[in-house]
Amino acid sequence: MSLKYNHLVDLNDYPVSWWNSLISLAQDIYSNPTNYSHVCDGKIMATLFYEPSTRTQMSFQTAMIRLGGSIIGFDNPANSSVSKGENLKDTTKIVSNYADILVIRHPMAGTAKASALTADCPIINAGDGGHLHPTQTLTDMFTLMQEKGRLDHLKIGLCGDLMNGRTVHSLCKALSCYEGNEFVFISTNELKMPSYIKDILTAHGCKFTEVFSLDEAISQLDVLYMTRIQRERFNSQEEYLQQKDTYILDTKKMSHAKSDLIVLHPLPRVDEISVDVDSDRRALYFKQAKYGVYIRMALIITMLDNKSKTTLLKGRVHNGLHCDNPKCITSTEKYLPMSFMGDGTTVICEYCDERKLTD
Ligand code: CP
Repeated sequence: MSLKYNHLVDLNDYPVSWWNSLISLAQDIYSNPTNYSHVCDGKIMATLFYEPSTRTQMSFQTAMIRLGGSIIGFDNPANSSVSKGENLKDTTKIVSNYADILVIRHPMAGTAKASALTADCPIINAGDGGHLHPTQTLTDMFTLMQEKGRLDHLKIGLCGDLMNGRTVHSLCKALSCYEGNEFVFISTNELKMPSYIKDILTAHGCKFTEVFSLDEAISQLDVLYMTRIQRERFNSQEEYLQQKDTYILDTKKMSHAKSDLIVLHPLPRVDEISVDVDSDRRALYFKQAKYGVYIRMALIITMLDNKSKTTLLKGRVHNGLHCDNPKCITSTEKYLPMSFMGDGTTVICEYCDERKLTD
């Protein structure tokens, strides 16, 4: 369904060769930015941010402006007709007729896919709830290439809110496609990596371990990917406070790490990395955020080229069956076709990847 445009909903909708081409293009833009300063002359990008953002929104806007294009959009739905009750379908339809490309962030999982079903231009997922954040993953991969020179045979520690962290979900899915990567999941019991991500790693033959202690894990790592405990994803303040401050990377912990470790973080940081670590040459999170502009420039150019087309719903529409995930976009946008992958007793929601027993 929907083969009109190419969209970026999930990186895994594209082959690894496509990701590698994007990274190569970003490397060329990084080295020769003036060669690209008119590539998008006359083009318009819309950024629809239903959730707060600093880096993703502004780096997309910077990217488009540096390519010669223009930007429209909102960063607070309260200032748009969403506040009057306009649904996602109508907002997408309208804005996709004003712009050549549309970047969307939303608190509900599966929103980018839902938008793409009715859009009249390519859609880019800038984060859909706790589900996926593919352009952060492209940023992370570009950073790894620039700073480590490879995307394979890395031992990567991911620390913090692994349950709700869309950036770590997207990153693990992507890096599992490169040979020899090994993962160490560092989290509390309550914030463990979701089973569906671990199943993907297993299917790709990737080794992973789950540990509690950052102190014990840090010395073995090539990459440490810190994440914020995401207050906005918890059901109550009490649950958030129980998890907050479990992990704080400080200079003492850094003293046990390899000399060529790199520390990444999608940001924003709250307290999980002490500001003293910022001056350590291995702390690359600010550089990582800057790299995000170049990979997004490469992505905009590639998506506007519109050579390939995206099949959005690959499974089967089950009338009368609903996704049980209250954070799935189908729970609020009731008109969406309820499409699931699989035909057995367990099916998977095509919007949010949540499993459901059909018996
Ligand atoms: N990394 C990231 O998504 O940051 P923002 O929320 O500021 O966009």
